[in-house]
Amino acid sequence: MSEQIKVTIDNITVAVAPGTTILQAARQIGGEVTPPAMCYYSKLEGSGGKCRTCLVEVSKGSEKDPRPMPKLVASCRTPVSDGMEVKNITSPKVLDARAGIVEMLLINHPLDCPVCDQAGECHLQDLSYEHGASGTRYEFDRRTFEKEDIGPYIQLHMNRCILCYRCVYTADQLTGKREHGVLDRGDHAAISTCIGKALDNDFIGNVIDVCPVGALTDKTFRFKNRVWFTKPVDAHRDCPTCSGKTRLWMRGDEVYRVTARKDKWGEVEEWICNTCRFDKKQASDWTIEGPSKIDRHSVIAQGHYEGVLKPQNFLPEVIGRNPKLLMNIHDVSGVNKNDIELSKLNGPAHSSDFDKK
Ligand code: SF4
Ligand code: FES
Repeated sequence: MSEQIKVTIDNITVAVAPGTTILQAARQIGGEVTPPAMCYYSKLEGSGGKCRTCLVEVSKGSEKDPRPMPKLVASCRTPVSDGMEVKNITSPKVLDARAGIVEMLLINHPLDCPVCDQAGECHLQDLSYEHGASGTRYEFDRRTFEKEDIGPYIQLHMNRCILCYRCVYTADQLTGKREHGVLDRGDHAAISTCIGKALDNDFIGNVIDVCPVGALTDKTFRFKNRVWFTKPVDAHRDCPTCSGKTRLWMRGDEVYRVTARKDKWGEVEEWICNTCRFDKKQASDWTIEGPSKIDRHSVIAQGHYEGVLKPQNFLPEVIGRNPKLLMNIHDVSGVNKNDIELSKLNGPAHSSDFDKK
């Protein structure tokens, strides 16, 4: 084993390999000590250093040179030194800077969470709840873009993009065939396909999973359901293109959406192919392993029920009697008309597709 060096983050010391970044060292400790990351992605080379949400204070540079670093640093891009001391949530400067970053990210990001398919699993939404202010000081019009069609499966909402570059690196490194990128600069910078080319690579659907906000969403899932009404289960199939290990988002027997499985940092565990993601929407296409383990403290964890609810717990106390019938809403798909399967509609669902009862 190579020599380990020690770094202390928020008064917790951890031994890591030389070359480890502060963010990775903090992830080894876990919990609140870990700075949020909107652009860094451990599986994408070159990612990080764009959004500044991971800023931390280095109060002691190293054992050899204990001087503090003069400015806050991006923890995703700064390697640790032996004896380094770092402050994350214990630094008022960091918390203040992070609140400023959230405010800046929200200057142009529309507050359309009620109609955004990413709501409930959006990293910017989580970040705003934790570090954001209740109001904005910005009085000017938000930056807006013309709608652009980037292909049959992926919906681009440029107004919501925070220019983290994750999707660009994904297309570049995963598909080996980069067809989109950030065009123009400054206030005009936008994700776009060059010469209107459709993103049709077998693995391009993964850009949806890496996008921290609702700028890239799944056209086959748009406006079909809210993510917290669906139940995530791990499933696999024998796929000739990818590992076939996915997460199904189900309601009743309907598979509403297929995504890659994500770890507790919200990063994809294994990339999946477009066929698994967009075409396999029947429960019979999959071998279901069981409820997914959701570690994120996001609202998607609310849709995670293992086993059947037990009425004896707290309900009699709350409602004053034993309930006659108790149903897990995730096992019942009673919102659509009997003859309509929302997940199979070609396009968004409309009010006429829902049961009015
Ligand atoms: S579309 Fe999403 S993943 Fe791509 S740069 Fe914008 S925010 Fe990042
Ligand atoms: S996660 Fe470090 S700068 Fe974005």
